[in-house]
Order: sequence, then C-alpha cells, then structure tokens
Amino acid sequence: MRLLLKGGRVIDPSQNIDDILDILIVNGKISLIDNKIDISEVKTRGSIDSVDIGGRILVPGLIDMHTHLREPGFEYKETIESGTKAAVAGGFTAIACMANTSPVNDNRSVTEFILTQAARTGRARVYPIAALTRNQEGKILTEFADLKDAGATGFSDDGMPVTDSGIMRCALEYAYSLDMPVISHCEDLGLARGGMMNEGLVCAELGLTASPDIAEEIMVLRDIILARYTHTRVHIAHVSTAGSVEAIRAAKASGIAVTAETAPHYFTLSEEALRSFSTNLKVYPPLRSERDLEAIKEGLADGTIDAIASDHAPHSSIEKEVEFDYAATGLIGLETSLSLSLRLVEEGILSMSGLIKKMSTNPADILGVSGGSLRHGLPADITVIDPEVTWTVDAARFHSKSRNCPYQGMQLRGRSVMTMVGGEIKYRSGL
Ligand code: NCD
Ligand code: ZN
Repeated sequence: MRLLLKGGRVIDPSQNIDDILDILIVNGKISLIDNKIDISEVKTRGSIDSVDIGGRILVPGLIDMHTHLREPGFEYKETIESGTKAAVAGGFTAIACMANTSPVNDNRSVTEFILTQAARTGRARVYPIAALTRNQEGKILTEFADLKDAGATGFSDDGMPVTDSGIMRCALEYAYSLDMPVISHCEDLGLARGGMMNEGLVCAELGLTASPDIAEEIMVLRDIILARYTHTRVHIAHVSTAGSVEAIRAAKASGIAVTAETAPHYFTLSEEALRSFSTNLKVYPPLRSERDLEAIKEGLADGTIDAIASDHAPHSSIEKEVEFDYAATGLIGLETSLSLSLRLVEEGILSMSGLIKKMSTNPADILGVSGGSLRHGLPADITVIDPEVTWTVDAARFHSKSRNCPYQGMQLRGRSVMTMVGGEIKYRSGL
C-alpha cells in the first residue's frame, strides 16, 4: 500500500516544518517527506495512489484530549461509533474519552470494552481515560496499574472534582510512578453550589443561580500546591478564568509541572450569550466574562495554556429542551473545534504552527501517546485543513448523535477536508 500526498503546505511543529512538500506513505506509515517526490521512481516499486493536496494545510492528526463518548450506558447521546465519526469529520485522528459513562470506566473490563468497541466500530483512535476513584465517588482510588495494563491512557474523575485533597495527593503520586497523567476537573462544590452560570452582573440580571470563578481557581491552586509538594505533574481540564490562567502561569514560571487545556467556547463565547437563555450554553465550567475570555487568549498566546480540547459533551434533546434549571450541562464540540480555533490564527493570537501544537503535538506529549508529529516511520495520522472554505453550522447534519451545539447557524471559516488514520482515509470532503 503506497499513497502519495502531493503539494500540501506541510506544518509539523515537532520538526519545525512549514513548507510545500510531498509525503509518501507506505504500509500506513510516513515513509518520506520531500519537496518533490518523483512518482515514476516510486512507481517502479508497485502501484501507488496519489492525492493532490493543492496547497491546503497538511498537519499531524489532531488529538482531542477531552471528549465524552457516552458508551457504555448513554448510547442515545453518543456511541463510540458516532463519536469517532464526528471526530474524523472534525479533523481529529485521536480522542481521549472521559470516564463518566455507565458503568463508570473504573475497572479493566470497561476500559477493555471501550478499546474493543473502538477497534470494531471506531474511525479515530480512542484513548480511554480511566476514573481516578471508584464510581467517581472521590473516596477510593481505582486500580491504577491494572487500568494502565488494560490500556487506559490517564486518570480523571472529570465531570466531578476530587474534593478530598489527600486522595488527590495519592492519585498524583501513584500516577506519576506509572508515568500516567492525572487530569483534574477543578470545581469547589461548596462554592459552585450547583450554580448554572458565572457569578456576576449578567447573572444577577438574568436571575440564574451563580457559580463564581473562584470555585474553579481554588481547586487549580490546590492542585498546583499538590503537584509542587509531591514533585509530580497535573493537567488542568477546561480552564475558563483569568485567575486560573494567572495561577498556572505563575506555577509554570516557578518550575511546577502543570499543564492546562481550554475549550473553544471559552475563547469564543462569554456569559453575555446567556441572555438568550439557550440551554446549549449551559456548560461546566460556565461561560465567563469578557475579561476572562481575553485572559484565556493571552494564556494561549504565551504558552500558559498548552492545549485546546473540545470537551465534547453530547446530551439529547430531552435533556436540553427543558427549563434552564433542569437542562443537562455540556455542549458538543468535535465538529466545530477546529474552525473556531482557526479564528485564533486569523486574530494573530497564534501562528498556524502554534495552533497545531495545541491541537496535536502538545496533547500527544501530555497524554504520552504517539502522534502529534509527521516523523519518518510514525503511523500516518494526518489532517488536511482548508483554511479558506466558509461553511454554516447545521447541527442536524453533524455525525454526532446529539445536537446541543451553541453555534447553530453561524458562519465559520476553515475546516478539515481529509482525515487519515494509520494511512487510511477516514473522512474526505471537498478535496
Ligand atoms: C461534561 C459532561 O456532560 O460529561 N459536561 C460539561 O459541562 N463539561 C462533564 C465535564 O467535562 O465536566
Ligand atoms: Zn469537566
């Protein structure tokens, strides 16, 4: 099996490449990158297919380090099949899926089930994140070594915070000894009090219950203190506030091993949008103020925030088409993340290479998985992006089973036109 990808603007932050190049793929692996691969030369060694990339941007496959796939247990919201279809359509060749399924992914049989199901029905690579505590109850640690052996990629109780600092300390130490990441959902439940939107003036005007920014920040600071004390590392999920960015920036400056991600809704939407009372805007952490939004962008620009993840959180219409108080929390993102993130390049906040680093190279490093690079010999996980094409968001046409998308009807610019996993084309449209 040979495939030649011709004339793409190849951007690979892991090798500082940004050039018009050809890529030869042999048996699913990257075999050669050069500025003119002579097809006649290659042809003599067997048949070859070729795709003309025509100057579009070709990058290491995007990796979404924070997705909710809902299988097992909530297949009416999303399955591994529908979720990975949505992933490749959005340009992702790999996704890490959180443990808040039913049953919770807190033992090897669930991890193995996810991997088997992904191998059977999945389009993208799936990296299961196992629960940090049994049933995500925050009381008893899961069997880290056993879960690693079963194929888990990291540990997190995402959806729920780990409120017991002693448990979190042990988790950081055990995970570190196994060279596995811990991903922390930072929320002080006492301060958050089930609040539905960001505490502040808009919230007061709208009369919705409030969750303050400090509910997130106090836990970010706690986790930083724990990482410092234990000399381990911690990854902060879905960073949304200026205070969190500031805390992580300071921690990094003093050499503490903290990494962080944010999601596109935290740099494209603010609490102002809640004036519509659309339940698709109900998410945890809540959409914050304009000032927070600017701070997130600054954190992305200066490297404080390492990664952009979708926090794709599918919920069905029966859970969303209800009063705001009763609506489920979360929004879908796999099929809009790339386009929304490309705005950062348009706005001059990140270079294209800088963006790919945050959506591919850095997530691979943090998760400790292969990918994020187009190095010779690696599996050909590749995303081709057309940065110019404009399209209108129509969630009804998404591959995801759920429709809880707050960008419905919006015009976006740029999207993936081809997604390749291990040399196989898993999605192609408009190329
Ligand atoms: C997520 C979900 O629905 O599982 N919801 C959300 O609002 N982000 C959980 C989470 O990531 O915290
Ligand atoms: Zn979370």
